[in-house]
Amino acid sequence: MEKTQKSFLKWPGGKGRIIDKLLPHFPEDCQFIEPFVGAGNVFINVSAKSYILADSNQDLINTYSWLKDDLVALYNATKELFNTENDFYDIRNQFNQPKFRWSLKLAAQFIYLNRHGFNGICRYNKNGQFNVPKGNHKNIYFPEAELVNFNGKLLFSDTTLLHCDFTKTIELAAAGSVVYCDPPYLTKHRDSFVGYTPSGFCYSDTELLAHCLHDAVSRGAIAIVSNCDNSSTRDIFHRFQIHEIDAPRSVAANGNRKPAREIIAVLTPDMI
Ligand SMILES: C[S@@+](CC[C@H](N)C(=O)[O-])C[C@H]1O[C@@H](n2cnc3c(N)ncnc32)[C@H](O)[C@@H]1O
Repeated sequence: MEKTQKSFLKWPGGKGRIIDKLLPHFPEDCQFIEPFVGAGNVFINVSAKSYILADSNQDLINTYSWLKDDLVALYNATKELFNTENDFYDIRNQFNQPKFRWSLKLAAQFIYLNRHGFNGICRYNKNGQFNVPKGNHKNIYFPEAELVNFNGKLLFSDTTLLHCDFTKTIELAAAGSVVYCDPPYLTKHRDSFVGYTPSGFCYSDTELLAHCLHDAVSRGAIAIVSNCDNSSTRDIFHRFQIHEIDAPRSVAANGNRKPAREIIAVLTPDMI
């Protein structure tokens, strides 16, 4: 098996660790649509005819756009931030100021904050301010090879980047599309919120996701979803074929290193 490619971003819940379990579900030669692209750990490892990568995190899509359009400029701006004696909170403060969020400076700062912040967590408060504290790493890795590799894939493939909500992205799916969804996971408690975006992701969002995917499959697409394995996700994805897997944990907040039970839920046109 080929070596798993890594993203230049650290991302809790990134799918690098289970890529070998996911890939067998993806047919080649499809249009690959990722409405929750995150750090792109799946995109960088999957082979398809074309790609649509979307996320509701504008800072993330801004970073991908700069990486696609001008690797050298982004590389230099980011390297300079890593090489200069900077105060993490000063950079975080600068990052939270601009209202216009499509700039090279913000893209470089986003990578800096991702690598220097606590555990690569990406979290915003209700006012949209990035509020992750400084991490306690001794040696900060500058992801040079990963940036170059990711740029190559963005540049030499037919890839569209979108900043939008999953509902809009899934509307683009039709026969020949595979929609892979890795949303913020639904915990056992019906309405618990998870990070990534100021608005969070709750039970009704996950229900809406299942509904949008069902519509996409009725238009001929294939839908594949990752989530945790519990009674809520079993309920919501009851029309899907469920594959259970053990996934290594990336953030073991309580020291729990036991693999977590997850599902890969698959819905194909012949099932509806
Ligand atoms: C678990 S991460 C995806 C990680 C990715 N599969 C990887 O391996 O790198 C979930 C992503 O969903 C995005 N997200 C959260 N709510 C969203 C929404 N309503 N629409 C689109 N994206 C959303 C977050 O910004 C985050 O990047």
